[in-house]
Amino acid sequence: MLKNLLDSVEALVFDLDGVIADTAKFHYEAWKRLLEDLGFQIDPNESEQLKGVGRIQALETLLTNRGIDFPYSKKVELAERKNAYYVKLLSLVDEGFLLPGGMEFVSLAKERGYKTALATASKNAHIILNKTRICSYFDVIVDGTMVKRTKPDPEIFLLTAKRLKAKPEKCVVFEDAYAGIEGAKKAGMKCVGIGKPEVLSNADFVVDSLASAVKMFGNEHY
Ligand code: BG6
Ligand code: MG
Repeated sequence: MLKNLLDSVEALVFDLDGVIADTAKFHYEAWKRLLEDLGFQIDPNESEQLKGVGRIQALETLLTNRGIDFPYSKKVELAERKNAYYVKLLSLVDEGFLLPGGMEFVSLAKERGYKTALATASKNAHIILNKTRICSYFDVIVDGTMVKRTKPDPEIFLLTAKRLKAKPEKCVVFEDAYAGIEGAKKAGMKCVGIGKPEVLSNADFVVDSLASAVKMFGNEHY
């Protein structure tokens, strides 16, 4: 139950793309365009494999799925091209890109005395945060520019806990990616999956959206 998870902790840690902001679809669109440049089609089933992981790791997954490899310098060039496509799509982002219930959930958490943090693998988080104007809702923000290893490595979550001055076991993470949940669990944190239970089978609890979670959280007996 969500209540059992949240009652025993002091800090809530949120992923950005696909949890707070509706931007996971832009990562997918940008990868699709890059693959088309290379003469390939993206398979919608690959979408879950791209979530949460760093840029180069996502590219390597797409190449491996097609049985190809490139020298590292070529991979960097391709990842930069994908990023340019992605950043162009981010020009569309405004407050309307906040996913339903997300900021309501974070506000309610703050009201109830929880520390709040954002932990995202993205190196573009600052663009989304500025456009949606949500920085002040979080006590701590850790992004992909501050860590060496990306999810499923636990580094980003351990750094977040350190900056929150909270023990990992006193944090619950909200994640839409299998890789993110892996990272949170390796860090010793509990994790709420945002999405489908059959995809996020490694989560401690799964809910379809923060809009549903806010209904549970808003009710005293959730
Ligand atoms: C994560 C996304 O938040 O950030 C991944 O879920 C993405 O899909 C990763 O690959 C890195 O993002 P960026 O913006 O630095 O390429
Ligand atoms: Mg995500």
